[in-house]
Amino acid sequence: MKHAFRTDVDAIRQRARQKMHDGAVTGAYLADRDKVIAVLNEVLATELVCVLRYKNHYFMASGINAEPVAQEFLQHANEEQVHADQVAQRITQLGGVPNFNPEGLATRSHAEYKEGDTLVSMIEEDLVAERIAIETYSEIVRWLGNDDPTTRVLMESLLKVEEEHADDLVNLLGSFPR
Ligand SMILES: [Fe+2]
Ligand SMILES: [Fe+2]
Repeated sequence: MKHAFRTDVDAIRQRARQKMHDGAVTGAYLADRDKVIAVLNEVLATELVCVLRYKNHYFMASGINAEPVAQEFLQHANEEQVHADQVAQRITQLGGVPNFNPEGLATRSHAEYKEGDTLVSMIEEDLVAERIAIETYSEIVRWLGNDDPTTRVLMESLLKVEEEHADDLVNLLGSFPR
């Protein structure tokens, strides 16, 4: 049987006062904060590279008159931007600095920036990038475990959307003759 929930509230009240300026980070934070911040900065770079790649695909696809596909690229670009902002906010909650430096962005990112000269090659590059993010984000979720549940929940929510993106893209690919 699971043991009853018990905790030393007096000690918790004392600790809450002592390190007040750590904000959201308390003694219950069991992860390695610097490592989590470093990993989140890689996720931030991944999301930013994905925004840029989807934006390139959106404008290039608009040029070749493929409005429904272009709209899908635009929607994904906007969702990746939301992810980037959520990750940056979590980094600051943990006391870190979100790295928006364009220098080294592509190296920090898990996914790659690839253009593509046809609609199909654009969709394929986006699908590959989503599949990379799905793998690395899944690993991050498992790595965080119960040591930083808030970051884990954030990464799970990103992972869910990347899986939807991959599914959208594979369905789009299926609509093209091969
Ligand atoms: Fe994303
Ligand atoms: Fe995505």
